[in-house]
Amino acid sequence: MRKYLFYIVVIASVAIVLFLGIRLFRGQKEEYTYKARREKMVQVQIASRGVKDEKVLRAMRTVPRHRFVSEDFTGSAYEDRPLPIGYGQTISQPYIVALMTELLNVDKEDKVLEVGTGSGYQAAVLSEIVSQIYTIEIFEELGIPARERLKDLGYSNTTVKVADGYYGWPEKAPFDAIIVTCAASHIPPPLIEQLKEGGRMCIPVGSVFWKQILILVSKENGEITAKNILPVRFVPLLGEH
Ligand SMILES: C[S@@+](CC[C@H](N)C(=O)[O-])C[C@H]1O[C@@H](n2cnc3c(N)ncnc32)[C@H](O)[C@@H]1O
Repeated sequence: MRKYLFYIVVIASVAIVLFLGIRLFRGQKEEYTYKARREKMVQVQIASRGVKDEKVLRAMRTVPRHRFVSEDFTGSAYEDRPLPIGYGQTISQPYIVALMTELLNVDKEDKVLEVGTGSGYQAAVLSEIVSQIYTIEIFEELGIPARERLKDLGYSNTTVKVADGYYGWPEKAPFDAIIVTCAASHIPPPLIEQLKEGGRMCIPVGSVFWKQILILVSKENGEITAKNILPVRFVPLLGEH
């Protein structure tokens, strides 16, 4: 009887070790595949189009984009396009995320506001570079899962609020940089007010059905300057303003 018990324990132990080993191996293989896809994404879609900032390239190589989309889209996560995230919203194309991050010209001391959390991916990319990121999402159904996702992935310098981002986050202002990831019909005055002296804001402006331009706004000695960067296509900034 004792002998049988001994064999059962040995067989069960071997089975458990084998099962855990296979899972670990599969997980590592998968992570390796995604890492290779990120590297290719950075080379082919981002660096080759002119994004040079090493901090941005490093962040784009690091953030696991496949963790910010639903299972249906994990296989497409590193493709050169935006992807649906539900509620008619999208996670932006990797190149646009990298370009907007570079335009903000941010550093490790900086505090950044994002309007349009969506999946949380852009916030995670910024979170790899800056000290604090505050991000606002209008849909509770997107904002709450994004908060959980960012927490699970260890992006502890990121705070998500569910609200209308048009009005910014006055309690946390002023910001070194502001990024708006949905298209506004005009630059929201509260965001200009909440931008620090010497700060930069990157925002798509225009109509959803017509032309949108990505604009880089700078605030120097109280003066606002706006530079057109390139035509883009974003989902609209929602709300009554
Ligand atoms: C292109 S998606 C953003 C992608 C996101 N940055 C990411 O990395 O996944 C635009 C987001 O802006 C949100 N949005 C639209 N109007 C908003 C508003 N007034 N305030 C806050 N978020 C808004 C949308 O719900 C959507 O999630």
